[in-house]
Amino acid sequence: MEATARAHPNIAFIKYWGNRDDHLRIPANSSISMNLDGLSTETTVEWADDIAADYLILNGTAQTGPALERVQRHLDMLRRRLNLSAYARVESTNNFPMGAGIASSASSFAALTVAGVAASGRGDIDERELTRLARLGSGSASRSVPGGFVEWHSGDSHETSYAESMAPENHWALVDVIAVISTAHKAVGSTEGHKSASTSVLQTARVADAALRFEQCKRAILDRDFVTFAEVVERDSNLMHAIMMTSRPPLFYWLPGSLEVMESVRSWRSEGLDVCYTMDAGPNVHCICTQERAAEIETRLRQMTYVVDVRTAGVGGAASVVRVSKR
Ligand code: DP6
Repeated sequence: MEATARAHPNIAFIKYWGNRDDHLRIPANSSISMNLDGLSTETTVEWADDIAADYLILNGTAQTGPALERVQRHLDMLRRRLNLSAYARVESTNNFPMGAGIASSASSFAALTVAGVAASGRGDIDERELTRLARLGSGSASRSVPGGFVEWHSGDSHETSYAESMAPENHWALVDVIAVISTAHKAVGSTEGHKSASTSVLQTARVADAALRFEQCKRAILDRDFVTFAEVVERDSNLMHAIMMTSRPPLFYWLPGSLEVMESVRSWRSEGLDVCYTMDAGPNVHCICTQERAAEIETRLRQMTYVVDVRTAGVGGAASVVRVSKR
C-alpha cells in the first residue's frame, strides 16, 4: 500500500528546548504552537517488498547521508511499532524553500508518520498515538499532527508525552509574518542544541517557571487576549535564547538584523499595533500579529535594511492523509 500525507510546519509560542530523555524526546517542559497555513510538506510512503533498503527522495533529489539516516531511524521505529518488515520508498516535497526561516523537521516528520501509518493499513492508530510516533522523529513534529493551536504535554514517558489541539484554526486569526534575516544553513541544529540545554545554569530556572508561562499563554489564546499573549511569548523566546547563549559551548542565533527587528516590534507595539516576536534556532524573526495588522507589519519589515525577505502564514489545520492506494 502507498499513502500520501500533508502536514504544516508550526511556530512555538512556548518553546521546547531540552529533553528529559533525548532518545524518546520527552521534553523538559510542555509547549504551545500554531500550525502555519499555506506552507506544507507532502510525503508519500510505500512499504514495498521488492526493495532491500529504504529510499528517500527529497524535493526531487535522492538523499544519502544524515538526512536519509534520520528518516531510516524513523522508519525502523515505525516498522517495530507497526509490525512491518518491508522497506519503504519515501518521496517528500516542501512547498517552501529550505533556509527560508521555516523549520522543516516538524512538517517532515509529521507527514512521514501519518503517511507511513496510513500506508500500513492500520486503522486503529488514533491522532494522539500519531503525535507520539511523530515526536520520536522530531519533538516539534508532534505539534504538527493536530490542527490549529496545539499543546504538547511533556509527560514523563512515551505514553504520556503527546500533543492535542487546544483551539481550532478558526479560533483566532493570528498571522506569522516572518522577517527573513539570513537564509544560510544553521551551524548547530536543534537536536544538538537540546542536548546542550542542561549545560546552562539557567535551564533549571527556565523549566521551573515553564508551567506558569504555559498556563498564561494558553489562557491568553483561549481569551484572544493579545496583550498578555505578546508579553509571555516574547519572554519565553528570550528565555530560550538566554539558555542557548549560556550553554557550553554557547549558541548565538541572533544577528544584528534580528535585534533590530525585535526592537522595532517592541516599539510598534507601544504605538498600539498588535504584534510580538518569537525566534527559533535561527536568525529569522517571527512577528506574530492579528490579521488586520499583517499587511502593515509586512510593509514595515520590507523597508528594513537587514530584512532580505518576508513570508506570511495564517493558522493551519491538522496533518491529513491526501491519498491511499494499492500498488
Ligand atoms: C527552537 O523539534 O527541531 O524550534 O526534536 O531534535 O527534532 P528535535 O528538535 P526540534 O526542536 C525545536 C526547537 C525550537 C522550539 C520549538 O519549536 O518548540
